[in-house]
Amino acid sequence: MRLDGKTALVTGGASGIGAATARRLAAEGARVAVADLNEPGAREVAGELDGFACAMDVADPSSVREGVRAAAAELGAIDVLVNNAGSDRFSYFVNSDESLWEFVLGVNLRGVLAVTHAVLPSMQERRTGSIVNVASEAGRVGSQGSAVYSAAKAGVIGFTKAIARESARYRVRCNAVAPGPIETPLLNAAPAMLGELGERLKAAMVNSTALGRSGEPEEVAAAIAFLAGEDASYVTGQTLNVSGGLSMW
Ligand SMILES: NC(=O)c1ccc[n+]([C@@H]2O[C@H](COP(=O)([O-])OP(=O)(O)OC[C@H]3O[C@@H](n4cnc5c(N)ncnc54)[C@H](O)[C@@H]3O)[C@@H](O)[C@H]2O)c1
Repeated sequence: MRLDGKTALVTGGASGIGAATARRLAAEGARVAVADLNEPGAREVAGELDGFACAMDVADPSSVREGVRAAAAELGAIDVLVNNAGSDRFSYFVNSDESLWEFVLGVNLRGVLAVTHAVLPSMQERRTGSIVNVASEAGRVGSQGSAVYSAAKAGVIGFTKAIARESARYRVRCNAVAPGPIETPLLNAAPAMLGELGERLKAAMVNSTALGRSGEPEEVAAAIAFLAGEDASYVTGQTLNVSGGLSMW
């Protein structure tokens, strides 16, 4: 199997794309730590996989350091990091305020920095590792009602490239995926928060895909598993759109 003998940490692993990724990496042979704000959810997914669950708020660096320490103590040093945790508060930008900016940047951008900062030194020391960041098509094309989220995800794409350059000499790779509309609680939060407008935004996203449909979490997990493993040994600094052809660059 592609990830035999490897350890993996998946943030936001209790739901959606993160849960599908934790399952897929375990199916590929990895021992998986499932980290999430939702600790019971993390325990449920980890229980299915004989993995390790830890409570982690990626927006809180001390919680991140403690979660990473606990995961490494239980499973051994982390070989594969999937920075997947994410969240949005849908709102037109003119109606947003600093507390929304703080929240959305804290989870989606600073969270990726914090977890990478906690995991990368050990990867560099051991001269092995693969990081996969879950960005978004929103970070490439911009998404209405998600301006701050779009900014955060564009930041993740830039961060991915810089870490790939800084870490190449340590044989650590760093890539990203940019999902389009994927059927998870997050996608369906827009209709729940904005009602009919949210339904229209979701429909507009789905209609923008060349394949004319939303995706499933497992379809993103498959791309993440590819980037995480040695099949992608000559791939670094890339962002792979997993979006039914929503954008094509
Ligand atoms: N679903 C989509 O259409 C879509 C599209 C593009 C990108 N994404 C990205 O995919 C990733 C996964 O999203 P999803 O759609 O599976 O959503 P989801 O809501 O199903 O899962 C997100 C998980 O992250 C956890 N989480 C949220 N805030 C956290 C925090 N501060 N610390 C730790 N865990 C936290 C949640 O508890 C949840 O388990 C996110 O980064 C999201 O931005 C999703």
